[in-house]
Amino acid sequence: MLSKQDQLKKLVGEEAVHYIKDGMKIGLGSGSTVYWMVKKLGERVKEEGLKVEGIPSSDLTGDWAKEFGVPLTDFSQVEGLDITIDGADEVDENLHLIKGGGGALFREKIIAQAAKELIIIVDQSKKVQHLGRFPLPVEVLPFGWEMTAKEVESLGCEWKLRHRENDIYITDNGNYILDCYFNEILEPEKLHKQLKLMVGVVETGLFTNMADKVIVGGGDEIEVIER
Ligand code: A5P
Repeated sequence: MLSKQDQLKKLVGEEAVHYIKDGMKIGLGSGSTVYWMVKKLGERVKEEGLKVEGIPSSDLTGDWAKEFGVPLTDFSQVEGLDITIDGADEVDENLHLIKGGGGALFREKIIAQAAKELIIIVDQSKKVQHLGRFPLPVEVLPFGWEMTAKEVESLGCEWKLRHRENDIYITDNGNYILDCYFNEILEPEKLHKQLKLMVGVVETGLFTNMADKVIVGGGDEIEVIER
């Protein structure tokens, strides 16, 4: 039996599949909402013979695609993507996002940028006025991460090095993640640029001016917000 929140994730995940057309190259995001999208897409591939190819943003999403029969490709084979569908940890009123709660932010940003259209799927709990209550994930190089963390801290946050059980969490790219507690991020674009200028920072979980459409599940309804 799915929790209410998981039912909403399933609802928006399946809804997003309606935007996928035959022949499309698709960026496949990460996370528990995307799981439902990949599963439904696999059903359409089987039942309708839909000819699509996906590029996954994490090893786990790649595993789901194989399990559900969604054909995969990579950037050596395609020049760009038609659509990317992904989840988010927070969405603000301007459709700026925090992503990376699952640790896949770097590849997620690559597939978001490569796509003509970025569709974000969330349950209503992810909608906020200002970003920042959810700790901002920042992917950093392992070498000298302590120095990078000090620089990040100088921007006015507390941080925690992400762990999985007792070990340091390692991204699919072999890096670490600092979860940064800014509480309220009033200028997300500026903060993203400041962080990106730091040598040890690989990528931030701030996705500004990237989402074209956000599909929000709340109650029994679906709201589609467009930029
Ligand atoms: C993964 O790195 C994230 O960016 C996810 O998209 C985000 O954490 C949303 O995940 P859920 O769909 O599991 O809430």
